[in-house]
Amino acid sequence: MDVKEAIQQRRAYRSLAPIEITEDLIKDLAGCAQLSASCNNNQPWRFVFVYDQEMLKKMHEALSKGNEWVRNASLIIAVLSKKEYDCVIGERLYYQFDTGMATALLILRATELGLVAHPIAGFSPKKTREVLGIPEDLEVITLVNVGKHSETMSPYLSEKQIASEKQRPERFSLEKFISLNRYLKE
Ligand SMILES: Cc1cc2nc3c(=O)[nH]c(=O)nc-3n(C[C@H](O)[C@H](O)[C@H](O)COP(=O)(O)O)c2cc1C
Repeated sequence: MDVKEAIQQRRAYRSLAPIEITEDLIKDLAGCAQLSASCNNNQPWRFVFVYDQEMLKKMHEALSKGNEWVRNASLIIAVLSKKEYDCVIGERLYYQFDTGMATALLILRATELGLVAHPIAGFSPKKTREVLGIPEDLEVITLVNVGKHSETMSPYLSEKQIASEKQRPERFSLEKFISLNRYLKE
């Protein structure tokens, strides 16, 4: 699979079937994040790979309403960072940008491996910290939920989520978000 194909194949599916989580898989995904660019090569990302069944069950208590489908993920990757780990240039903070780029590489690699890697914002950072023993000063930016796409629709989905399984949610047109040579007001 080339990069463009991986970009096109990536989807935030919610109907997940179990997969075996091996040390090789974790090293493969983490190894792709490792190569990401970062400001001053600060590498501000931290990941907790959660795949122990008991730990996964505890993590389910951190999920917001509407994210019950995560119960079928075989791996939950907690993505962590803090501003002190990366460049702060005036008002510009780079830790989330750089951590996001590294996470995108991880997600694309998972896609290439035929997996779903679906990031969410709907979770309790407090509960996540409690369950995983994450210190207060580290931000829990997202949970990336990994499994195999299941053809059987997850029983946890709303009508809107079912529609998203069938068809990728619409995107803005290029004209909406690009300008050529000069910024064009909307
Ligand atoms: C930062 C972020 C937060 C998200 N939060 C959730 C979430 O809480 N629950 C969920 O089901 N999907 C969540 N998503 C997935 C988006 O809904 C999804 O990417 C979007 O609808 C586009 O669909 P696609 O990725 O399949 O193209 C999130 C995605 C991102 C990047």
